[in-house]
Amino acid sequence: MAHRAAITWPLLGRISQKEFLARYWQKRPLLMKQAIHPFPDLITPEEIAGMSLDERIESRLIIQGPGKNKWQLQRGPFKASTFKKLPKKKWTVLVNGVDRFVPSVHAFLDEFSFIPFWRMDDVMISYAVDQGNVGAHVDNFDVFLVQASGKREWMIEDRPVPTDDFIPDLPVRLLKKFNPTHRWILEPGDILYLPPRFPHHGVAQGDRCMTISVGCRAPSVNDIINEVASSALSRTDESLRYSDPELKAQEPGEISPDAVKKIKGLLEKALLSEEFLSDWLGRSTTEPYSDVKLLDHAHKISAAAIAKTLRGATALVRTEGSRMAFISTRGSSLAFYVNGERHELSGKAAALARELSNRLVLPIADIEAYLNDKGCQQLLSGLLASGAVLVDV
Ligand code: SIN
Ligand code: CO
Repeated sequence: MAHRAAITWPLLGRISQKEFLARYWQKRPLLMKQAIHPFPDLITPEEIAGMSLDERIESRLIIQGPGKNKWQLQRGPFKASTFKKLPKKKWTVLVNGVDRFVPSVHAFLDEFSFIPFWRMDDVMISYAVDQGNVGAHVDNFDVFLVQASGKREWMIEDRPVPTDDFIPDLPVRLLKKFNPTHRWILEPGDILYLPPRFPHHGVAQGDRCMTISVGCRAPSVNDIINEVASSALSRTDESLRYSDPELKAQEPGEISPDAVKKIKGLLEKALLSEEFLSDWLGRSTTEPYSDVKLLDHAHKISAAAIAKTLRGATALVRTEGSRMAFISTRGSSLAFYVNGERHELSGKAAALARELSNRLVLPIADIEAYLNDKGCQQLLSGLLASGAVLVDV
């Protein structure tokens, strides 16, 4: 779409969004030295360790050794005393979904606007001491490994492995064979992009090594069938049934090709219309995780007071964990999906919804033109009341 193609990748400078997508995305790894320079202070290693004590947050501790081929995996929440008992080297604490809890990490995702937001899953951050690592492994999804502090040596193989071949009886899924073809030391601001199933192994070089993994989602066809079917079941019309008024004389024992075609037709009607699938995708990809409590951020401002309030602010920020996307319908109209709910919009409100979907941090100066429009005022007042967006003063 013309609108997105105009965005160039701010991370790379030298490489355009078009080139990244054509040459690397889902195809080959890419190392980007000093992609974000200087690297901002998003979070500290101590804060990551602190998050692993929180019972709402998923975390793991991976300790290598003692001894060859020995690994320990512990699942959080941890106690502060856990960290006091750890060895000096070779451990990593990994925290999932940091973007859903930390505003600066959530806003950081704007740097990745060269791929659709709905393709992203969550941000995991690891903090390792010297030689900390999680072993050589593959992931089933694309990942951007961003070095946030300290140094990490990354080793990768330049070919994806199609099948799993793991060392048996370990608490972590590590590759039996790993023959790296490339190795680099990553420093703050360097990013390594890996498509799915490229073997990789990262070892902290010194303490306070923090790596941000921006992971994409890659739903399996089983997951999709499961979710599409349960969504269809909640809305299909029971009166839609097998019927065959044009039944032709046939042997009574046969299940005819026409019967199979009819079943296929019924399923197509109930599950596979573009309208149903696009609505399902819009709702399901914006449905917030259960750990996100948007109403805690609710801010009541009447539609009439929107223009005045926002003109005195600097930005409209998407609340951490809040999700938005749009699907074009007719002309410039669109379906705007906000945290699992659909809003039909047209005119200026539709244009504003595009802006809101495309950026997590939206400077007020960029939406000034919408603030006097009644439809836009109502949209913004609703989004603020539901906690989907916040006013940054
Ligand atoms: C790490 O941060 O130590 C591991 C991240 C990964 O390999 O996906
Ligand atoms: Co990995």
